[in-house]
Amino acid sequence: MLEGRRPHFIGGAWREPAEGAWFPTYDPADGSVLAEVARGGEADVAAAVAAARAAFPAWADRFGAERGRILWDIARRIRAEAEALAALETRNTGKPLRQARADVEVAARYFEFYAGAADKWGGRTIPVPSPFLDYTLREPLGVCAEIIPWNYPLQIGARAIAAPLAVGNTVVLKPAEEAPLTVLELARIAAEAGVPPGVLNVVAGYGPEAGAALARNPGIDHLTFTGSVEVGREVMAAAARNIVPVLLELGGKSPNVVFPSADLERAIPIIANAVVQNAGQTCSAGSRLLVHRAVHDEVVERLAAHFRRLSVGPGLADPDVGPLISAAQYARVRGFLEQAEREGVRVRADTPVPAAGWFVPPTVLDGVAPASVLFREEIFGPVVAVTPFADEEEAVRLANGTPYGLVAAVWTRDLGQGHRVARRIRAGQVFLNAYGAGGGVEMPFGGFGQSGFGRQKGLEALEHYTQVKNVAVWWGD
Ligand code: NAI
Ligand code: MG
Repeated sequence: MLEGRRPHFIGGAWREPAEGAWFPTYDPADGSVLAEVARGGEADVAAAVAAARAAFPAWADRFGAERGRILWDIARRIRAEAEALAALETRNTGKPLRQARADVEVAARYFEFYAGAADKWGGRTIPVPSPFLDYTLREPLGVCAEIIPWNYPLQIGARAIAAPLAVGNTVVLKPAEEAPLTVLELARIAAEAGVPPGVLNVVAGYGPEAGAALARNPGIDHLTFTGSVEVGREVMAAAARNIVPVLLELGGKSPNVVFPSADLERAIPIIANAVVQNAGQTCSAGSRLLVHRAVHDEVVERLAAHFRRLSVGPGLADPDVGPLISAAQYARVRGFLEQAEREGVRVRADTPVPAAGWFVPPTVLDGVAPASVLFREEIFGPVVAVTPFADEEEAVRLANGTPYGLVAAVWTRDLGQGHRVARRIRAGQVFLNAYGAGGGVEMPFGGFGQSGFGRQKGLEALEHYTQVKNVAVWWGD
């Protein structure tokens, strides 16, 4: 266990939980307790929202470049502490060390990206009949509530802080109970970089307690949620009662679509990584593989062979695939694999895994029917569902055949086909002959359908974190 308990960060200081309760957070590598963390409730959330409200006017009034300078310094400090942050991220989430290092780098990039945008985000002038000058201002909203999941605490935590702060909002952030530790470190680093008290507050705790209290708090001005569809629905309903705008990112069932002309040499390792990265616990995981019949057998063989060569083990040993986050997620993934057996799907899972623990081998489910839950529902493990198609028409229909629409990739050497299919796929991001492009910080990210709505990342996020005010000036006869 780490030394000392981890309190909330409210109003620029560490705060013990108002109700005196603490909860354990675990090391997924062996299930041991890693630390005791403040178990937030109504009173802690109320204190954090009050601190964020009080800090808002002065923070909003600062010139963007000043806010930007502080965000730049957060990025610098994150890089200076990269190794320690990566190790803590690995210990709390189970992810392979090099993945955690990459996440630290992306976290730093979010602060840089939004630091650079902080003094460049303005309104416009609008032509209207004389004698009027019409212009718009883009003003911050106020207190932004951010509820984030456990799969990428540093990455998602960083964007949940950097984007709203850059344009003058203050933040109350609720990390996931499974992995709150690096998010609390971000609060410390932000304070050390000069973020004033109350501008960033982190309230830890369980979803139905701290999370629900934050979502329904009448003092928030915006709510961003990343997590399950089920909870997304709940927090949106809570926000609706206060007429608070929401931005939802609820995961997906994203397809890689492989046509016969695809460069398989390039495609296979990328398709594999798309579903084994973070043990498949990624909202944008490439968890479906739609393959043209002409190359189906070859693709499945090569993918299974690639999976066999991967290593599975504790994150600190830096394998290709770490454990799942929790016993609950492990049971959930096992349930889907049992469903595959019942449906008579061909299961390929030959990678050796440690005898005990929440480890799942990279798995190919070959021949998954479009009506199956294995085709439609997020498994959140290193498990890819393969479905063959006969032509472009069927490929598009299958790609769009789930309630989700977060990401998709199209693999083809036919340029026209690539663009055509990209147009027809309902997803917030489409890749051609790739899956991901660097850390993704610069690219708008969000979903169609049950993947949610609104866009995080990129400059588009700033549209959500500001509101437009129109000013019309009469300039005389
Ligand atoms: P979850 O949606 O319950 O948790 C996400 C966040 O919401 C956490 O911070 C949690 O504390 C909070 N939360 C939970 N209940 C809440 C409530 N009633 N009010 C306010 N906040 C609440 O997700 P969970 O249970 O960890 O995972 C279940 C499934 O959700 C996964 O198997 C996966 O399919 C999906 N998921 C998707 C993610 C994504 O990146 N889009 C991330 C995490 C989970
Ligand atoms: Mg849950």
